[in-house]
Amino acid sequence: MTIPFLTDHYTRLKNRQAAREEFYRDVIHGLTASSKSLSAKYFYDAEGDKLFQRIMQCPEYYLTGCEQEIFEHQVQDIATLICNHTSDFDLVELGPGDTAKSGYLLGELQARGIDYTYFPIDISESIIQTLEKTLPLKFPGMRVEGLPGDYLDMLKEAKLRSDKQKVVLFMGASIGNVPPQEALGFCKALRKQLSPGDLLLVGFDLKKHPQVILDAYNDKAGITRAFNLNLLKRINRELGADFNLEQFVHYPMYDPETGSCKSYLVSQREQRVHIGPHAIHFAQGEPMFMEISQKYSLTEIQQLAERSGFRSFEQFQDSRHWFVDVVWRCV
Ligand SMILES: C[S@@+](CC[C@H](N)C(=O)[O-])C[C@H]1O[C@@H](n2cnc3c(N)ncnc32)[C@H](O)[C@@H]1O
Repeated sequence: MTIPFLTDHYTRLKNRQAAREEFYRDVIHGLTASSKSLSAKYFYDAEGDKLFQRIMQCPEYYLTGCEQEIFEHQVQDIATLICNHTSDFDLVELGPGDTAKSGYLLGELQARGIDYTYFPIDISESIIQTLEKTLPLKFPGMRVEGLPGDYLDMLKEAKLRSDKQKVVLFMGASIGNVPPQEALGFCKALRKQLSPGDLLLVGFDLKKHPQVILDAYNDKAGITRAFNLNLLKRINRELGADFNLEQFVHYPMYDPETGSCKSYLVSQREQRVHIGPHAIHFAQGEPMFMEISQKYSLTEIQQLAERSGFRSFEQFQDSRHWFVDVVWRCV
């Protein structure tokens, strides 16, 4: 039997325990592999959420401003596109963060008298709790059903809760955090959770001057560095590890040939870090891969849509053509 409302208190506690076990397994798996890595989805604890808000305000982090411009100036076109396509739908958002940009669309749909349920899906429970509290105050009458957990699992849950057509938002260039060799599989998995006619709006960061890109992930104030190191702090706190943060340097790099911007934490010296029964050895200069932010061309985006079972419907760019929000329709 399906549990109808996964968000009840008991189920959230059970989910929290399962999430902690998964966190431990993923960390050990990543740090005992021949090339060490940590999964970027674990950046977002309550402190990570705050640091990401500060990254978005950094002058170098152009991505937010670009997508903000798109939503501020083109939200009516986006809303019209959606409303001309379907009149009865649920709005699902994958990784909403603070909804500063998607909020334009939430407000516009409400102003048009569209009756929809908003399902924010986020791995950060604190984000879901905040949105459940604040959105009904900001948009009186809006139905908000927060789904704390991983994108694909919770998209499945949203489908179980309601069989209405889905309009799914996946903004902020979060698709770029999926390694390019896995992006096709990820889009196919998204498509599998959706039905013909459903819409998916995805924000992609476009290829541009390499220095502009690198600077965005290497802000002068050091917030991105703190954001990366915060994951080590989280592992210390939640999994009882003994990372010495001062022994790791943050190193971002961008390769314009592949479009991959990658962040590493590099061990300053030979050391051992303990997590439960594991003693993880780091050689001096050994990198730990933290996050990828893949940049795309319009052609690559088009190919991704076609190969994963979507058809391009419309696209919205900022005035500098640095960022694009594409709307894909499930075929
Ligand atoms: C880069 S932020 C983007 C926030 C927002 N969409 C924006 O454009 O400002 C990524 C968001 O996705 C969430 N997130 C990251 N990985 C996730 C995953 N695997 N499943 C669910 N949420 C995830 C984070 O907690 C965070 O809120």
